[in-house]
Amino acid sequence: MITIKSEREIELMRMAGMLVSEMHQFIKPYIKEGISTYELDQLCEKFILEHDAVPTCKGFEGYPATLCTSINQVVVHGIPHKQDVLKNGDIITIDVVIGYKGYQGDAAWTYAVGEVSEEKKYLMEHTEKALYAGIEEVKPGNHIGDISYAVERYAEAHHLGVVRELCGHGIGREMHEDPEVPNFGTPHTGPLLKPGMVICIEPMLTYGKRDVFLLNDEWTIITQDGSDAAHFEHTVLVTEDGYEILTPRLD
Ligand code: MF3
Ligand code: CO
Repeated sequence: MITIKSEREIELMRMAGMLVSEMHQFIKPYIKEGISTYELDQLCEKFILEHDAVPTCKGFEGYPATLCTSINQVVVHGIPHKQDVLKNGDIITIDVVIGYKGYQGDAAWTYAVGEVSEEKKYLMEHTEKALYAGIEEVKPGNHIGDISYAVERYAEAHHLGVVRELCGHGIGREMHEDPEVPNFGTPHTGPLLKPGMVICIEPMLTYGKRDVFLLNDEWTIITQDGSDAAHFEHTVLVTEDGYEILTPRLD
């Protein structure tokens, strides 16, 4: 069931989304060579708790941490560890879901650690632009398939692999609600967008083939060919005439 949020609910989701944006802004200066993903996780958990908010991923289906920290060939759901220390030239996706007064905000972006290769810069730039290509399709009267198609088309035009095993989702009281928002699809198909719906759009693109596999920890998803992956995600409200990004970048 796809829920339509009331004005009051939308206001709370704006606040949850703003906390997600602020947490990304807070952690950004720490993303440097030498820090572990465990330390990043601890800093973010403290930030969230100090803002009277909830690190929603922690404990979700047994997930052990606040953040997902996915380095280089890790596509999504990398678990923070003390031994995973950032190196110059890495890329790392920080993905977080924050609950505020019962409502969720969710955003991921991929960061460069120090100086990264031209290939990694290209992957990051065009994964973020694929997200915006999808967001541009968000308006009443369009369908989920219009978003999916726009993301896929942008990614393919830039010769990037589109991971198909995971997709975006509705969001509200729960971090995962209907509908699913795939990163590939057909225009004018799927659920119709209506004002008051809130969805997460989150392309996961690779610099090589699109195939992925799940590590033995049952969470970490990496590319099969070892190519780098990037992941950008926003929580987006369908408005009367278009969209509002509830997790705006503050940089
Ligand atoms: N941001 C992720 C998503 O959109 C969060 C899920 S990670 C989990 O699906 F560990 F909580 F499952
Ligand atoms: Co999400």
